Amino acid sequence: MTLLQVKDLQVRFAAPGSGLFGLRRQWLKAVNGISLSLAAGEVLGLVGESGSGKSSLGRAILRLNEIAAGQVLFDGVDITQGGKLDIERLRRETAMIFQDPYAALNPRLSIGETLAEVLRVQRKVATPLIPRRVDELLAQVGLHAELASRKPGSLSGGQCQRVGIARALAIEPRLIIADECVAALDVSIQGQIINLLLELRQRMNLAILFIAHDLAIVRRLCDRVAVMYLGQIVEEGPVEAVFGAPRHPYTAALIQSIPEIDPTRALPREPLPGEPPSPLHLPSGCAFHPRCRHARPICTEKPPPSHDLKGQRYSCVLEKPLL
Ligand SMILES: Nc1ncnc2c1ncn2[C@@H]1O[C@H](COP(=O)(O)OP(=O)(O)OP(=O)(O)O)[C@@H](O)[C@H]1O
Ligand SMILES: [Mg+2]
Repeated sequence: MTLLQVKDLQVRFAAPGSGLFGLRRQWLKAVNGISLSLAAGEVLGLVGESGSGKSSLGRAILRLNEIAAGQVLFDGVDITQGGKLDIERLRRETAMIFQDPYAALNPRLSIGETLAEVLRVQRKVATPLIPRRVDELLAQVGLHAELASRKPGSLSGGQCQRVGIARALAIEPRLIIADECVAALDVSIQGQIINLLLELRQRMNLAILFIAHDLAIVRRLCDRVAVMYLGQIVEEGPVEAVFGAPRHPYTAALIQSIPEIDPTRALPREPLPGEPPSPLHLPSGCAFHPRCRHARPICTEKPPPSHDLKGQRYSCVLEKPLL
């Protein structure tokens, strides 16, 4: 069952300083026409370099960023058109986990108070049952009940991130958007948190949009992966297909940058020179052409054609696998 459907979504920000003193307002297209869907219980990875628009997309889906155009359907309801009730429902059924586990928690509240507050505000359980539910939530993320009385400042990064997950679970969400939620943690703790997410997804049929830089983690955790470049998805599909036979030169370059993804296989060189251009001045044609070693004259002129190979979708003039 399709839980989330995003259609041609656009998010833009006014460029700093533009629109002032009679200057023309310039728009930065952080999300530039994205479509994707997510089934109940499915984990979709969202990858791409810094500034490609991953967080802007994640936040717009939860209506934490303004949407300039396009649609977001949650459980069949268009929440971009939706009124207050639809937004409230979205808040009751979705949650976000953030990168910085400390910054995401209120330092003045104990862990127990933080979780109790969510339960109270979202009216998830009757007030007398809140303490028991807090204990349950802590147990679910592998934390001792004694932690309830502690403040975030006295916890480790991994413990804080578990609290962040517990707080998300308190909502009993159907969709979690996890934005770089393990990036700040040690590798061994990362592994524990990933296992926890996998287990919760299994147990609760959670859908997760997993935003990450780290492709190795995405490969391990996700069913499908979407690759973003300058506000667009350039390739998307099942993890094995995309990692095994990437079709877009940008995907191939990202995969090559994973250390030792498959030591037995010699990978051809697919260098990725330079930085992405500013989304304020998007290149003509295919936005990736200035960095693409396969670029042809047509790539500077026209948007690339889209292909769909059994669910692996990509936009490029090339028609053969690259690795
Ligand atoms: N609130 C904002 N105001 C103005 N510009 C913004 C705002 N948030 C993001 N941007 C710009 O939008 C573009 C996309 O940013 P975004 O944070 O979504 O990228 P990202 O893929 O999440 O990057 P990272 O991997 O570094 O988290 C960037 O050019 C960024 O500078
Ligand atoms: Mg981000």
